[in-house]
Amino acid sequence: MPMETKIAFTPYESVDADALVLIAFEQAAQAHPWIAELVKSGEFTGKLLDSVVLHHPNGVGARRLVAIGGGKSDRFTPAEMRQVAGTIVRSLKAKKMKRVALVLSEAFQYPEYVSAAVGGAILGDWEADLHKTKKEATNGIDEFTLVCPGGVTELADSFTRGQVVATAQNFARDLGNEPPNLLTPTVLARRAAQMAAETGLGCDILDQDRMRQLGMGALLGVAQGSAEPPFMIVLSYTPPVPLAGVHLGLIGKAVTFDTGGISIKPSEKMDQMKFDMCGGAAAIGAMQAIASLKPPIAVTAYIPAVENMPGGKAQRPGDIVTSLSGKTIEILNTDAEGRLIMADAITYAKRQGSTHLIDASTLTGAIVVALGGINSGVFSNHEIFQRRLLDAARIQGEKMWAMPMDDEYKELLKSASADIPNIGSRGAGSITAAKFIEEFVEETPWIHLDIAGTAWTEEAKPYLAKGPTGVALRTFVHLAQNWE
Ligand code: BES
Ligand code: MN
Ligand code: ZN
Repeated sequence: MPMETKIAFTPYESVDADALVLIAFEQAAQAHPWIAELVKSGEFTGKLLDSVVLHHPNGVGARRLVAIGGGKSDRFTPAEMRQVAGTIVRSLKAKKMKRVALVLSEAFQYPEYVSAAVGGAILGDWEADLHKTKKEATNGIDEFTLVCPGGVTELADSFTRGQVVATAQNFARDLGNEPPNLLTPTVLARRAAQMAAETGLGCDILDQDRMRQLGMGALLGVAQGSAEPPFMIVLSYTPPVPLAGVHLGLIGKAVTFDTGGISIKPSEKMDQMKFDMCGGAAAIGAMQAIASLKPPIAVTAYIPAVENMPGGKAQRPGDIVTSLSGKTIEILNTDAEGRLIMADAITYAKRQGSTHLIDASTLTGAIVVALGGINSGVFSNHEIFQRRLLDAARIQGEKMWAMPMDDEYKELLKSASADIPNIGSRGAGSITAAKFIEEFVEETPWIHLDIAGTAWTEEAKPYLAKGPTGVALRTFVHLAQNWE
């Protein structure tokens, strides 16, 4: 049974729950009468995510009182709020509690904190147990209440927004966690179409024949080594009165499994390459949230979905393909397949009317070397647009870092026989990958997010299970909602 989430505006003393949770800050932890003694004894510090459980506290209706550390109060942003809520859900469901209430004191009763609190709880509740016959989380939390004593009822709207976005993010994480035998391009297209039918989004699924007619040679070259047919998934949202002059295009890489093709990857940890569709999943999930939040601008998502396999018909290193743009590409490494499918998806998005493009792609191992699992890499041809994206990402607690895009990097992409090769000559692998994509973007304002390091977390966090993170989705939705 999924966890139910509610908001309440009652005084916390009267809340009936298995656990009532208060956030206590480092400097002020001793101010709470219940907690003062624990601080004195050193059992609780108030450091971020530190926690302690008290039984039968005086003067409170709940059976237990839990204090969780908020860290330094002046550093407590919505990002910390999200982590606190997620940690509470994960730690208390491990302790078999059913009804949990988190108190948001008046000092933090603002829309971003409310959305982050319920969002963090929903994200924290997610487990990678879809295919486990014995669910570890069968003893999960039934009811999570955000208690805002004295809060204004408008906060309920922020609460709903937080619910919608986190639920969409969990949908994206579910897709990301599906095994590659069960989530082929065909299945991904079906899941996207089903979601579109349920939410009222426009949906167009281009099959191989249509892509051949259009001339998507770069995408089709990647797909030809697989027995699974490729699809271009197009999901569209149009507001009743769209803001004039802007049509946001979200493009998500969806390689449902990346073996590398003929330039095959080492077998060790190759299973991780099921995650190579997480950019596509983020775009699909973002569209689910957008369908219900109804931002003022038109948004269309393009998700090129393929499997990269080394079959008898697979493309070879040395092949030259003609992309939808007309530019010819020399395939020097079949494992640099993401940029090939993104090239055709971006050309298509532009021809369909996108004025602004953002892509999310698990594009390069090099970005994992550069930024690890902490920041996503940001690449852009437009400084103002990039600034706005970085602001949105910060507000949404998705760490992102801008990378250089100097013209000189383009010089590393030289082909003897075609317009452009699909790999750079040396160094700066993430940047040459971005420069390759930029050749197809041309002048349209564009941002590329390399999420190869951030789309999957190998270690569980106190507030998030191990597995797909759904990264980029919140930033996508935030930008669409706050366009003007
Ligand atoms: N999907 C991978 C990127 C990747 C690699 C993500 C390792 C996470 C870990 C992408 O398709 C790829 O294989 N990129 C190559 C490009 C290279 C051949 C220029 C890479 O990064 O090794
Ligand atoms: Mn690859
Ligand atoms: Zn890949």
